[in-house]
Amino acid sequence: MRGRHDLDRENSTEDPLVVRENYGPEILSNDKRLINFSGCDYLGLSNHPATRSALKEAVDRFGLSASASRITTGTSVAHLELEDMLASFLRAKDAVVTSSGHHAVAALLESSAPLGTHWFVDEECHPSAWAALRSTGVSFSSFRHRNADHLQQLLRRAKKPISILTDAVFPVTGDTAPLEQLAEIVPKDALLCVDESHSMGVLGTTGRGLAESLMNSDRKVVVFGSLSKGLGAFGGYLCGSEALCRRVRETSLTYQTSTALPPALCKVVSVGLQLLQTDSSLQENLWRNTSRMNAILSAQGLVGDPERVPIFQVKFADSKALHACHRVFHDLGLFVPMFRYPGALDPQLLRWTVQSRHTVDHLDAFAAAFDQAFGGEA
Ligand SMILES: Cc1ncc(COP(=O)(O)O)c(C=O)c1O
Repeated sequence: MRGRHDLDRENSTEDPLVVRENYGPEILSNDKRLINFSGCDYLGLSNHPATRSALKEAVDRFGLSASASRITTGTSVAHLELEDMLASFLRAKDAVVTSSGHHAVAALLESSAPLGTHWFVDEECHPSAWAALRSTGVSFSSFRHRNADHLQQLLRRAKKPISILTDAVFPVTGDTAPLEQLAEIVPKDALLCVDESHSMGVLGTTGRGLAESLMNSDRKVVVFGSLSKGLGAFGGYLCGSEALCRRVRETSLTYQTSTALPPALCKVVSVGLQLLQTDSSLQENLWRNTSRMNAILSAQGLVGDPERVPIFQVKFADSKALHACHRVFHDLGLFVPMFRYPGALDPQLLRWTVQSRHTVDHLDAFAAAFDQAFGGEA
């Protein structure tokens, strides 16, 4: 009998790809080695020699699981060390490590509920924000995507206290939030909460994220997100004032009652944070590859954007053309995923990323495949 985990079946591009082995910028799927343009491992830290060996050592020291929540017996020195490192790296007063990015935003919203905060949310925020807004029952309004003017109109009628919620980088399109503009119009006592899942380690002049320049400003900024993208590991975090982090620890049931992030993963993230600060080649290679990808798109008549994040997409009018294009990439040994997300009945786009560990050969192969897939008609 054949099941969904039979890996010897014909590698249909209709099915989610199943990874057999992962070598960073290349993966083995079934028996085919593919250059990997999927996922969000921008800096290649999920498969870096230093993070891999940190994980092995940390598992020997801490075992696999914290086996308990943070407020019972699940807190280890690895959690405390990581929270100190995150706060200092992100120039915040304090940080809380959570079990995922989903948990980070849930904890943030839960901690605001007793204050009666009204949230203003970019309409394209990640689904984790919408899930948390709904499950916590906090009051909220949405503003038009990246539209500070619309937010300003809504703020005129707002009753306090208020908080703003936006992704720094919107992960499907790679759009960035107009943070400077938002910071200008937001009242000084409001919290500006920024999901830096796709920008931590990637954006900002020193890789601290899109909100980097606001962290020492007179604005109340909270940054949070997933540790699974730029940092290549797993888990979540939020950074802000001591009062905010205390409130999260004291009031968020998500934080209080879920099993703590495995200490070994905290160690891996700590090593990733050190690498970010000591190995400038991670970022340099990422931006070199991002520019190369932009040049490939420009050569095909698509608008390249030198300021762009390492996320790229092409939309299709019909799914037949999308599947055909995806198939060309796959047959030529590249994994360039069709993007599926909740709410979309049928994926109509290819969405891919570059990593710092892609080589010139990988990108040349992409250029050749792109040329063949689009036949100069992108
Ligand atoms: C922008 C954004 N926020 C939050 C999350 C959720 O993070 P996690 O997967 O750690 O729960 C993701 C994950 O894909 C994301 O892209």
